[in-house]
Amino acid sequence: MLGNKIVEQAIAKGHEVYSTYRHNPPRLGVPLVLDQTIQAEVEKVVSLASPDAIVNSAALTDVDLCEELPEMARFVNSISVSHLASSASAHKAFLVQVSTDYVFSGEKGMYSETDPPSPVNEYGRSKLEGEEMARLAGEGNWCVARASVVYGWGRPQRGNAATYVYDKLSKGEQIRMVQDQYCSPTYNDNLARMILEIVEKRVLGVMHTSGATRINRYDFAVLIGKTLGLDAGLIVPVDSASIPWKAKRPRDSSLNVQKCAGVLDEKPMSAAEGAESFWKEAKVRAGQVA
Ligand SMILES: NC(=O)c1ccc[n+]([C@@H]2O[C@H](COP(=O)([O-])OP(=O)(O)OC[C@H]3O[C@@H](n4cnc5c(N)ncnc54)[C@H](OP(=O)(O)O)[C@@H]3O)[C@@H](O)[C@H]2O)c1
Repeated sequence: MLGNKIVEQAIAKGHEVYSTYRHNPPRLGVPLVLDQTIQAEVEKVVSLASPDAIVNSAALTDVDLCEELPEMARFVNSISVSHLASSASAHKAFLVQVSTDYVFSGEKGMYSETDPPSPVNEYGRSKLEGEEMARLAGEGNWCVARASVVYGWGRPQRGNAATYVYDKLSKGEQIRMVQDQYCSPTYNDNLARMILEIVEKRVLGVMHTSGATRINRYDFAVLIGKTLGLDAGLIVPVDSASIPWKAKRPRDSSLNVQKCAGVLDEKPMSAAEGAESFWKEAKVRAGQVA
């Protein structure tokens, strides 16, 4: 979902882009097959492309699958980052590692970059380890960009927090959304622009690059439903205790984006701005507006 957006915008800005993939060929960029968990493959691809910068948005993002298969989560979300970081260091390429609000416990909320991470599930643990691996790219050569509940128009076969609401409500189907879990929903287009600016300006260290609004998942689903002109009354609020998730979720993993808002020209969008832009993009894609 995010990788496609970054490639689309990087090409629009005139960059030469190699889009690596494992199973699903990308729409844009020079496609290169790569299983990032294999060091020799990573080194071969980085040598071939000889990039100025590497943006790693690949991950095992299914939180419950990570809980079931923690070793696989570690391979994809952490060990593969060490391979990328070593190659980035060897080839003097700047590395942006995309990470997550799930590195935090969720006990506090509105986390800033200086708050200590303390993940509560295997996905969060593997991504935190990935952040540490990114440092192997060398001093002054890496940035960790943390996002939260990323949404946008991506691959149709892989839904997200906003497309799920659209798909279900437009068919008149009821959905249940948790009202006791808070996050900072991040529109993929906004995030891709922030990441590209990080690349171009070589912004260093950890950055919270999520949306700017702390909101619970139920209220966010209602916002998306209403913005899209759908019947938000079909969304039923529930407590997370009623959902049989394998992995524990952080209660409030919302992120403080003040640092990012101060450093970047592309500002983190509010939830309302993100929802409006998401709706506008749908209309552009449908050819209804320019
Ligand atoms: N989605 C969210 O709500 C969310 C929230 C916070 C942070 N993030 C972070 O944002 C980033 C992007 O998330 P997303 O939702 O855009 O992810 P996504 O749609 O699930 O895409 C992840 C991609 O990783 C690739 N991949 C998986 N294993 C690989 C391997 N061994 N080698 C090479 N590629 C591999 C997959 O490629 P193929 O399709 O070709 O197999 C897939 O397209 C991730 O780092 C994620 O942790 C996401």
